[in-house]
Amino acid sequence: MRMVDLIEKKRDGESLTTEEIQFIIKGYTDGSIPDYQMSALTMAVYFQDMDDRERADMTMAMVNSGDTIDLTKIEGIKVDKHSTGGVGDTTTLVLGPLVASVGVPVAKMSGRGLGHTGGTIDKLESVPGFHVEIENDEFIKLVNENKIAVIGQSGNLTPADKKLYALRDVTGTVNSIPLIASSIMSKKIAAGADAICLDVKTGAGAFMKTLEDSKSLAKAMVEIGNNVGRKTMAVISDMSQPLGYAIGNALEVKEAIDTLRGNGPEDLTELCLALGSHMVYLAEKASTLEEARNMLQDSIKSGKALETFKTFLRSQGGDASVVDDTNKLPQAAYAFELEAKEDGYVAEIVADEIGTAAMMLGAGRATKESSIDLAVGLVLRKKIGDEVKKGESLLTIFSNTENIEEVKQKLYENLKITKEKVPAPVLIHGEIT
Ligand code: URA
Ligand code: CA
Repeated sequence: MRMVDLIEKKRDGESLTTEEIQFIIKGYTDGSIPDYQMSALTMAVYFQDMDDRERADMTMAMVNSGDTIDLTKIEGIKVDKHSTGGVGDTTTLVLGPLVASVGVPVAKMSGRGLGHTGGTIDKLESVPGFHVEIENDEFIKLVNENKIAVIGQSGNLTPADKKLYALRDVTGTVNSIPLIASSIMSKKIAAGADAICLDVKTGAGAFMKTLEDSKSLAKAMVEIGNNVGRKTMAVISDMSQPLGYAIGNALEVKEAIDTLRGNGPEDLTELCLALGSHMVYLAEKASTLEEARNMLQDSIKSGKALETFKTFLRSQGGDASVVDDTNKLPQAAYAFELEAKEDGYVAEIVADEIGTAAMMLGAGRATKESSIDLAVGLVLRKKIGDEVKKGESLLTIFSNTENIEEVKQKLYENLKITKEKVPAPVLIHGEIT
């Protein structure tokens, strides 16, 4: 096989065979296919697309390019949740203990990553003593005992995707549905998921800004999952404004605790119940979505969800008393209110820009080497559609410096107030199964 022939074949709109796709991914991973040929191929895919069979083959070729995690020693159906990324997205922190509390095994491998706030591990590390440096055997034992554990990323998972994603980033080929879908799905499958529940975000703070693109991506991923034997479904949820109120590491842990206690923000609670019901259903712990939702609501009411969170923290060295006394979480030195300059209604809270403001305070990493300030961040006091009076707080800025003029300016630019009443955005735009 010659790579140049395969580039021409795709350029001319033909489908690549399973063997051809395996040849390409293997050759690119081991370096025998150079970047310039791979970039020509990705550009051909960008324009000519891939059919369902090619997408499934592409995904599995990337899964097989490196290590895969074996979770077979964990009892039950392992359902993984994946979010395409948003601002102040606290769902993972809530969903893990919530679905575990009704018997769904949560074996989470998580990274730190870049972004507006830290990753799930960073957030959890705001609980004093909590750590994810556990051995594989311990990890499996904990999931079997408590139904939930989180371990740091280990092994060489999907090296083909790492290389390819970096190449796409500099060749104008990130934004291709078959490439994004296979990239995301390969990572979930390599991490051992039997079933996958996707939260595809849409709006200003999302990777996909329009509903149409978000739906296409969701459909593509669901199709791949089902074609490679992993039951997959997707919820398309709003990210035109941040989810919940808190954006920041310790602040989001507190928000997750509130939500597990039944006192969380309405949108975060609803999204967790929606995604959680699908996870419980996919794990075959309930025979209908309605039954699944009732189980989750009962677990919040009875305190079982919160108890599961405490057990989880304790099992990984964390001080579980933070759950009852959130003042033990890292606290910022200063709290400043961002006051409304006029009467009206909140019309826009541009999610990605608000996220950047949180990052400027130190809540997230701009580069891999940056350190994170777990205490700082933002807590919204108003959401889109809320009425606001001049002088009222729009949000609170938690900071470890008094020098926040630049952050304040960014926030004012991205929190728009109008005279006319604005409807609150729809939270869930659809589900794809
Ligand atoms: N996220 C990924 O993991 N891969 C992509 O290709 C795009 C977003
Ligand atoms: Ca939040």
